[in-house]
Parts: sequence; C-alpha cells; structure tokens
Amino acid sequence: MTTIGLAGAGTIGSGLIRLLNTSPAARSLRIKAVLVRDAARPRPGLPVGTLVTARSQDLTDDPGIDVVVELLGGVDEAFRVVSRALAQGKAVVTANKNLLAERGPELFALAAKHRVPLGFEASVCAGIPIIRTLQEALRADRITALEGIVNGTTNYLLTRMSEERASYQDCLADAQRLGFAEPDPDYDVSGKDAVCKAGILATLAFGAYVDFRKIPTSGIDTLELEDVRQAEAMGYRIKLLAAARRSADDQLDAEVAAVLLPLEHPLASIRMEYNGVLVDSEGLVRTLLSGKGAGPAPTAVSILADLLDIAEGRARIPGAEHPFLAGAFDLGNRQSTPSRYYLRLAVPDRSGTLAQVAGLFARHDISLASVLQPEVPDTAGGSLVPLILTTHSTSRGRLDLVLAALAAEGWGRSVVLRIQEN
Ligand code: HSE
Repeated sequence: MTTIGLAGAGTIGSGLIRLLNTSPAARSLRIKAVLVRDAARPRPGLPVGTLVTARSQDLTDDPGIDVVVELLGGVDEAFRVVSRALAQGKAVVTANKNLLAERGPELFALAAKHRVPLGFEASVCAGIPIIRTLQEALRADRITALEGIVNGTTNYLLTRMSEERASYQDCLADAQRLGFAEPDPDYDVSGKDAVCKAGILATLAFGAYVDFRKIPTSGIDTLELEDVRQAEAMGYRIKLLAAARRSADDQLDAEVAAVLLPLEHPLASIRMEYNGVLVDSEGLVRTLLSGKGAGPAPTAVSILADLLDIAEGRARIPGAEHPFLAGAFDLGNRQSTPSRYYLRLAVPDRSGTLAQVAGLFARHDISLASVLQPEVPDTAGGSLVPLILTTHSTSRGRLDLVLAALAAEGWGRSVVLRIQEN
C-alpha cells in the first residue's frame, strides 16, 4: 500500500479523491492525511480515519506517508511544502505550473539530491500525457519547435464566442463554474497561466531551463467579439498560442500571444477546453497531442498516473542531466521573424483619416492586404470608430513605428495580432 498526504482539497483535490475512490487502478493507494485551511469543515469522500489537518508537517514529517500530492496552487506555501517533503525523502506529485515554472530548478535539485521522484504530468495540459511524451518518447528525437493551445479557459471562451457569439463575461462565468478557470481568471485571460506552461514545456523540449519571465506574453483580454467575427470572415480562427522555436543561431525564440490561425492549421480545430500541442522534430516531423486540458477529472487522471508510477517503482528519479538542472536558455526574440498582422485600430470618424492611416503604413513600407471600416452611425467626427486592417509580411519593428505614430496622433490601438501562415 502506498500512502498519500494530499495538500489541498479544492476543485482538483476533490476530483482526485473521487478518482481514488472509484478507479480500480487506485487499489494500492490510500490517502492518510489531507492538508486544508479549515480543518473543521466536513470533507465528504475521504476514507474513514483520514487525518484532516491545517499543519503541513502532519504530511511532510509523517514517516507513514510515502508521497505528498501538492494541489495548493500559488508558489510560496507550495514551495515550502514540496521542498520539505522532498528533503524528508518523500516522493512528490504536483499539478502546480506556477511552482515548477518559477522554482523548478531548486525543486529538481532537491529531488536529485534526495533521490526521490517529482511527478508533474498534471501541471501542463491536465489530462494530455505531454510531459511523459517529451521526457520519454521524444527524447530520442531532436525537437525544433513547439506550439500549443495550453490554456483551457481561453480556448473555451474563444470557441463559444466564435460558435455561439456568446459574450466574454458569460463564457468566463461558465468556465469558473465548470472548474477550468483559475481562482483569479485574469491569470488565464492575460496569458500568465499559458506562459508558465510554455516555460515548462520548452524546458523539457529543448533540454535547458527556460525562464517563463523572459517569454514575451500577452493574452486575450483586449479581444472583442468583433475580432473573432472578422478573423473568421477572413478564414482564420483566433487562438492563444504558446510557442517556442530553435532559432538559426541555436537560441530559443518563445512567445505567448493570441494569433490568427488559418482554418486548416492543426491547432485551429481544437475546441472548448481541449488543449493541443504540436511538436516539430527532425525524425517524426510533426506530432500532435490533443485532449482535455483543464478540469478536475482529466487533471486527476494525470495525477493518478504519476502516483501509480511511484507506487510501482517506475517513476524517474531526476539526475544532474535533468533539463531543469541543465543551465538556462538565452531567449531570442520570436517577434523579430517577419509576419503578417491583423490590427483593429480606433480612429476618428472624419474625412481624410483613412488616407492618413494608409499614408503612415506606406511611409514605413508596410503593404496593406485588406482594410475594413464596419459601418457605424455618423458621429460627425466626434468619436473613435474601429478600423480593421491586415498587412502583408513585415517586421514587428516596422509595425511598432506605425503604432507609435498613430499613438502620437492620440488615436487608439485596440488589438494587434500576428497572422500565422502554417
Ligand atoms: N486554468 C487552467 C486552464 C487550468 O484553463 O487551462 C489548467 O491548468
């Protein structure tokens, strides 16, 4: 019997308790103690005799507990619990992407020192076995690029906005109710959740620590239904992508941003809370993994898989060659690659504006591919109206000069999105 100390009994913790109670695969596992904030509150589903405690030492320092499962979220308290458990020689399983993205090198160093496994399959894309795939199957190949929809909440929002014309706020409330969204949903929609996952995946794919704080990041929080609609009318879908690519000089270019994907792109058809990760590598060329990337049930499946590996003695003990311990990558600048762009500007509704905007693009040698000003009631020049443009391929630097010139006119820049070609 392998005994578990469960730190955190929120949405994911409750999902794990349900799975442990029902899965025949979990027969050899038993929860011995649960760490919660309020130990007096009843916790349905726990086996009789389980200790419910608010003291983390009751888990980390109990010699009768073999594995600590960390589902607290956040970084500081989670780091204290996980590092203490590892130092006590306990195996750890965590679903905490913030913790690993930020403090992964310290935690893997501790796990290596104490020769204990640290399982983290559930930290990225919930139920998709992407961590295993990168650490095991694909380590035999040389990965050149990685691109993924790694946040379920934003993909759920974008899908429902696109298919039902549903409002952003309604969809977000549903995502919270269904248990996908983070406690602070700003974390999902601003790209912060995705960039932590990007840091972890890029570390494993490219073999050295990628510090997520150095990855340029933006989210979907400035998008409107109008952008989703216009992108579709042009043959694209908007997706929040986490991307990393080896550059020609063997640096790494990485970015998290909403982009316009052509409908035939393999990630364009990933819907709702599903995630998808596309891996380009020399031998396999292109591999797509897709599945439920958020929610308590898929996350619990990945946690249980890590627990079973530990219980059966198959879990990897990190060594000095572990990617989180193999130095840090210098990040280049993915935005330096020429690209097409979609822009929604806010400009005054008066004669000559369009000519002035077009003139600015011409002056910076950016060729426009399309221009659309949706019809609005005549405001007699009194207010800003949307102007939607797409460009032919250009550098981001050149585009930024145009945006700066527009800003100098006091005009708004609402949305700037890269258009991805393949
Ligand atoms: N809030 C996250 C998401 C949950 O929506 O993907 C999984 O990390």
